[in-house]
Amino acid sequence: MAALPPAWNRSPQPFAELISAGVIAARVAELGAQITAEYRPRIEEAEVVVVGVLKGSVIFLADLVRHIGLPVLIDFIGISSYGDATSSSGVVQITQDLSRPIDGRHVVLVEDIVDTGHTVHYLLENIATRRPASLKLASLLHKPARQQRAVKIDYLGFTIPDRFVVGYGLDVAQKYRNLPFIGYES
Ligand code: IMP
Repeated sequence: MAALPPAWNRSPQPFAELISAGVIAARVAELGAQITAEYRPRIEEAEVVVVGVLKGSVIFLADLVRHIGLPVLIDFIGISSYGDATSSSGVVQITQDLSRPIDGRHVVLVEDIVDTGHTVHYLLENIATRRPASLKLASLLHKPARQQRAVKIDYLGFTIPDRFVVGYGLDVAQKYRNLPFIGYES
């Protein structure tokens, strides 16, 4: 088998590591086990759909679903939010809708980060109108210092300080999503 490529990072100003790949992997495995335990008794009553918010949740979702020991469905919803580069305004538009109806199904919405809370607040309200059997939120990260909307995160990876973070799906100007750890500009 070919060797994995060496770990990379931005040059000449590398990102500092906030959460290592190993720590993320361990926490994601725990969240997957928790989701499995909670939905196993309910899988006969309704299908479980894991809905990723494009694009930031993609890496988290890909790892998370492999730790869910149930036959879940996967779908994606694409959004754009208006605001400046680092803060969303609360005005969210769906740019790509779900590919299949979710009425009568258990939905787990998967986000990369809850920052002001505007994006997930909008998405949860929007999805709830489609009459899912249940609706829960998984978010890899939560930045409570900037929260403007109260949001209940059912499955949370990590609470982080008020820093702009990148990697493991999160971007700066669409880049660095493939950094294997969560980093920040030091
Ligand atoms: P909210 O609506 O303010 O909660 O923002 C949520 C969205 O803003 C996330 O889905 C991310 O795409 C983006 N975002 C918020 N904070 C960060 C960050 O620290 N790094 C990268 N993207 C972020």
